[in-house]
Amino acid sequence: MKFVKFAAAAAALMLGSCSSNVPEAAPQAATASPAVAPILTTPDAVDPHSYGKPLEARVTHVALDLVMDIAAKRLAGTATLDIDVKPGANEIILDDKGLEIESISDSEGTLKWQVGAVDPNLGAPLRIALGPFENGSPKRRITIKYKSAPDASALQWLTPAQTTGKKHPFLFSQGQAIENRTWIPTQDSPGVRQSWEARITVPAALTAVMSAPRVGEPVAKGDTRTFAFRMANPVPSYAIAIAVGDLAFRSLGPRTGVWAEPATLPAAAAELADTERMVTAAEALYGPYRWGRFDLLVLPPSFPFGGMENPVMTFLTPTFIVGDKSLTSLVAHELAHSWSGNLATNATWADMWLNEGTTTYFERRIVEQLYGKKIAAQQVSLGIDALNIAVTENGGPRGKDTRLQLDLMGRAPDDGLNDIAYEKGAAFLRMIEATVGRPAFDAYLRGWFDRHAFQPVTSSIFLADIRRHLVKGDMALEAKLKLNDWVYNPGIPANAVAADPKAFAAVDAAVARFGQGVAPTGDDWPRWTTDERLRFLTRLPRTLPAARLMALDRSLGLNATANSELRFAWLSLAVANRYDPAQPSLEQFLLAQGRGKFVRPLFEALAADAVWGKQIGTALYPRARPLYHPVVTRDLDPLFGQK
Ligand code: BES
Ligand code: ZN
Repeated sequence: MKFVKFAAAAAALMLGSCSSNVPEAAPQAATASPAVAPILTTPDAVDPHSYGKPLEARVTHVALDLVMDIAAKRLAGTATLDIDVKPGANEIILDDKGLEIESISDSEGTLKWQVGAVDPNLGAPLRIALGPFENGSPKRRITIKYKSAPDASALQWLTPAQTTGKKHPFLFSQGQAIENRTWIPTQDSPGVRQSWEARITVPAALTAVMSAPRVGEPVAKGDTRTFAFRMANPVPSYAIAIAVGDLAFRSLGPRTGVWAEPATLPAAAAELADTERMVTAAEALYGPYRWGRFDLLVLPPSFPFGGMENPVMTFLTPTFIVGDKSLTSLVAHELAHSWSGNLATNATWADMWLNEGTTTYFERRIVEQLYGKKIAAQQVSLGIDALNIAVTENGGPRGKDTRLQLDLMGRAPDDGLNDIAYEKGAAFLRMIEATVGRPAFDAYLRGWFDRHAFQPVTSSIFLADIRRHLVKGDMALEAKLKLNDWVYNPGIPANAVAADPKAFAAVDAAVARFGQGVAPTGDDWPRWTTDERLRFLTRLPRTLPAARLMALDRSLGLNATANSELRFAWLSLAVANRYDPAQPSLEQFLLAQGRGKFVRPLFEALAADAVWGKQIGTALYPRARPLYHPVVTRDLDPLFGQK
C-alpha cells in the first residue's frame, strides 16, 4: 500500500544524515513519548465540541497526502487514519465541517459512510461503518479521499497582493480551537491525541512548512514540489498546522530558527534574537524541551492571532516586530506552550485555563529569567489590570464566565475565550507560588508536566494532582489555598497576590499628574519602556476632550507609532472619544493587519457608536475585510451587515 511505503521511506530518511541548512527532522529522541495517549474518563473530560466517541473507536495516527490547488482554494487528496476500535463498536465517528468527501475505503474495499446534521459551530458527525473484526484485531486503517472547501475556516488563502513580497500566493492554517475539521477528517478534540505525517504538494516556487519536523528534501516533479513531514509524538488535532508561501529560513541558534517571507526575514530575525536563550531558560525552569527544534514562522499581517503554539513551528503575527524586542514576551508565551498546552493539554475547551493560564504564568517566569524582575513584575501588573477589566466585562465578580472551568455547553469554544483563562489562571498559579514558596512550586509544576507529558488534562485532574503532590494532606495549607474556589467559583478569591505597587510607581504618578491637567512631556515618555507606556495609556481617563488628546498625540507621536500594542491602546482611546484626527491612523492600522485582538475591539467600538463610529466602520470594513482571516470576519461580518 502506498501509505505503508511512504512511512517506511520517511523513517529511512529520518535516520539518514541531514544535509541542508534548513531545519531537518531533528531526532525526536530525548524523551520518549507514549505511542498512544489515554482517553480520559473523568466527567469533566467529555468534549461537547466533538462528535467523536473515542472510548469506542479512536484515531491514533493520521497520514495526509494533499495537493495545494490555489485556483480552487482547496487542499485535495487523502487522509489515511490508523484507528483503535473497542470490541463491539462497529463504526468510527469523525468531525467534519464542509469537507467534500469522495470515498472512504480500507484494505478490503469501500466503506459506507454518512454525514449527519450540520451544526453551525460544530459542523457534522462523519460516521464510517467498520464492519466486523478480522482476527479480533482492534487496529484498523482507513483512507478518506476528500477535498477541503474553498471557505474552510481553518485556512486562509492570500493573493500575492496580500503578502509582503507581492509576488506569490500564501496559504496558512489556524486549527485552534475547532477549525481543523474543515481540512482534516479526524476526531477534532483536544482530548484525542494522534501522531501524524504528511506529504504536501505545492507549486515549485513555494515552500511548505508544518508543525512537525520535515523529512528529507522536497521532491521536485514537473512544476511542483512535494514536502514530507512527520510528527512522532501524539498531539491534539488542533496542533496540526500548515503554511505555504515564498518562505526563507534563518538560523537563530542550535535548535531555533525563523521562517518568513524574504522581505520580512531580516527584521524578524533581529527581533527574535533572544529565542535560543528563552528555550534554555524555559528548560531550566520546568524540564527538557521535548520537541527537538523550536522554529518560528512569521506570517503575513492577516494572521488572526498574536501567536499560535504549533509544535516545533510557532506561528507569529508580524505585528510583534517593532525593532526593539519590546513585544517578544509573545515568543516566551508560545514557547511555554511547548509544556503547558502541547505536553499537558486541556482535554476540553472548558479547561482552556490549563493551557493559557499556566502558559501566561510560565511566560512571565521566562521573561523574569531573561529581562529581570522589574520587567516581569510590570507584565504581571498589566496582567492584573487586564484581569480586572475581564471580570467587569464578564458580569462582575459573580459572572459565570469568570470561573476558570467554563460551562461551554451549547456554545462555541471562543465564546469563553477572554482574559479570564489567561490572567485568572496565571493569578491562581502565582497565588500557589506565593503560598508554598517558589522552590516548592517550581518542583511541583515540573512534576506536573512530567506526569502528564503528551496527555490530556482537566481541572479535576489538576486539583487531584496538586493535592497529591503538593498539599499532601496538610489541612492548614489546603485551607489557605482555596483551590476549589479558584477553579469552580466566579470572581477573584481574596488570597490573590496583589500587583506590586512599585512596578509602575513613576508612570502612575504621571497618570495622576495628567488627571490634574499636566500632559507627559519629552522628559518621561522617551525613557519609558513599552510596558510603562501601555500602563500610561490604559490608565488614562477613558473620556477626554479633543484638546487633551491632541496634546498627547503631539508630544508622544501616538498616531504614528510603529508599536502595534501602543497604537492599539491609543486608537481605542481615540475611538472612545470620537477623536477625528486619529481617523487616518485608524484606517491605516485596520487596513494593514488583521490580528483579531486589535481589529475586533476597534471595529466593535465603531459599530457600537451610532453617531460617529458606525459610518466610519461601515465605509472601512468592506475595504479591510479581504485581508482578514475567516475566524475574524465570522465575528465582524454581522456588525456591518455582511453575509
Ligand atoms: N493558543 C493561543 C491562541 C488561541 C487561543 C487560538 C484560543 C485559538 C483559540 C496563543 O498561545 C495565544 O494565547 N496567543 C495570544 C498571545 C499571547 C501573548 C497572549 C494572542 O494571539 O494574542
Ligand atoms: Zn497561549
